[in-house]
Amino acid sequence: MNFKEYIRVIPDFPQPGIRFKDITTLLQNGPVYKEAIEQLRQLVKDKEIDVIAGPEARGFVIGAPLACALGVGFIPIRKSGKLPGETIEADYALEYGKDKLAMHKDAIKPGQKVLIADDLLATGGTIQTSIDLIKQLGGEIVGAAFLIELSYLDGRSKFDGLDVVSLVQY
Ligand code: PRP
Repeated sequence: MNFKEYIRVIPDFPQPGIRFKDITTLLQNGPVYKEAIEQLRQLVKDKEIDVIAGPEARGFVIGAPLACALGVGFIPIRKSGKLPGETIEADYALEYGKDKLAMHKDAIKPGQKVLIADDLLATGGTIQTSIDLIKQLGGEIVGAAFLIELSYLDGRSKFDGLDVVSLVQY
């Protein structure tokens, strides 16, 4: 399936020069959304995975259904101030802007094998910060799965030795 046909590219959003990859047009198509999750599942199914962690917000719409499809738990990595329990936090820079990510301190048990999932790999800043948080909690990262990879930003070069998979590349 050519998933690119279902992803809408919007120029100059959220700021001039950014060509925003809008996945809402893919998500609203049930069979295409289902097939995207199924193809991601195929790419990671042979890994030992205890839980999937995904960053807010678009990481949830990929990570949670992938976790369900694999029969493993899902851990939300949230923007600062959203999680009610005790958290650890880290700053990060984005392709545009910057923010803070947080996880519950008891979200991961030491030694658990964690797959990170998100809709899009751009600079890799979000995933780098997610990895730092997961490692602080004692998790072992077994890979990262994305719907979209912006290859021209070469985010994956930040993660030497990490198994990075994506369905669509630009
Ligand atoms: C987007 C996207 C990824 C991240 C990729 O999320 O969903 O999480 O940016 O960029 P990076 O590789 O350069 O870090 P965003 O922070 O815009 O939040 P949203 O999912 O809440 O829209």
